[in-house]
Amino acid sequence: MQGLKEQIEALKKQLNEALKAVSSSRETNAIHVNFLGKKGSITKLLGEIKKLSIEEKRTFGPLLNKFKKESEEFIQKKYDDLFNQEIKHQNLKKENFDVTAYKTGAIKGHVHPYTKIIEEIENIFLSMGYEILDGPEVETDYYNFTALNVPENHPARDMYDTFWTNLPNTLLRTHTSPIQIHAMENKKLPVAVAATGRGFRHEATDASHDIMFMQCEGFLVGENISLANLFATAKKFLRALLNRDDLNIRIRPGFFPFVEPGVEIDMECPFCKKGCSVCKKTKWIEIFPGGLIHPNVLKACKIDPEKYSGFAFGFGLTRLAMIKYGINNIRLFHSGKMKFLEQF
Ligand code: DAH
Repeated sequence: MQGLKEQIEALKKQLNEALKAVSSSRETNAIHVNFLGKKGSITKLLGEIKKLSIEEKRTFGPLLNKFKKESEEFIQKKYDDLFNQEIKHQNLKKENFDVTAYKTGAIKGHVHPYTKIIEEIENIFLSMGYEILDGPEVETDYYNFTALNVPENHPARDMYDTFWTNLPNTLLRTHTSPIQIHAMENKKLPVAVAATGRGFRHEATDASHDIMFMQCEGFLVGENISLANLFATAKKFLRALLNRDDLNIRIRPGFFPFVEPGVEIDMECPFCKKGCSVCKKTKWIEIFPGGLIHPNVLKACKIDPEKYSGFAFGFGLTRLAMIKYGINNIRLFHSGKMKFLEQF
């Protein structure tokens, strides 16, 4: 039975080599299965004992059993060594946890499209000499309506589906126009202000309407301010924001209680020359409502309409962001979806 001895030697060598190559405790388990599992090569060799004569059994039986035992110990030792090393390594990692360590390939934060467009809008207005202001989102009836020439029971209040609070005469502002009143009450003339912020309206939501949206309000009050100043400002602003030096605007009459005359400024569709889905095949996009500030609004802010005049505008910043970035569903803005945000 010389062959058996050689087989033992060959297996010993194989096992040695296999154990040399492992680098984790887990891998030694696989080696155990390969050599000592039910179908393992050492187990198979032990099965051969049955075929031996009594004489041979006496010689090879103990030899094989010894080999089996040694192999088991050998694998176990390798497992223990690697396992201890792994634990040590893990503890070391815990002790030396570095909160400032930079992990390459980690998920980076993204700028929300609102943040991005607000920054651009503010920079454009700052470059034109405007002051950037903010205002409260919870307003009184007076600032949201009355001071803006929308008295109680005026039908124009129906234009705004208002969220009223439990407090008397208190609401979530339906537009950013009340910022005009706060500023005109407090600032010295001439004044030029741009303000971005949220507006709230109680309306059914769809792909282009949400109960919360962003607007940008702007106005300028001084002496001899005319509609021409408004048109020039709108054109300059839209051209800068959309990076189109040749973008044209057109003007139509519009109605808002706080301006007289009121206008709707449309811009040429920046996406097509012939009409597309964004401009609804009209080549124009209605984007920039405004007008000359109504004398009643100036009077409410103790400004003499005989001496001063001003223009105001208030455009949907959400809508402009959708056009600028090609966003087709308003709900994406507050969806928190990384796939959406990762594009910005
Ligand atoms: N506040 C108006 C709205 O939300 C928009 C607006 C129109 C603001 C004309 C203005 C303006 O300042 O002059 O519908």
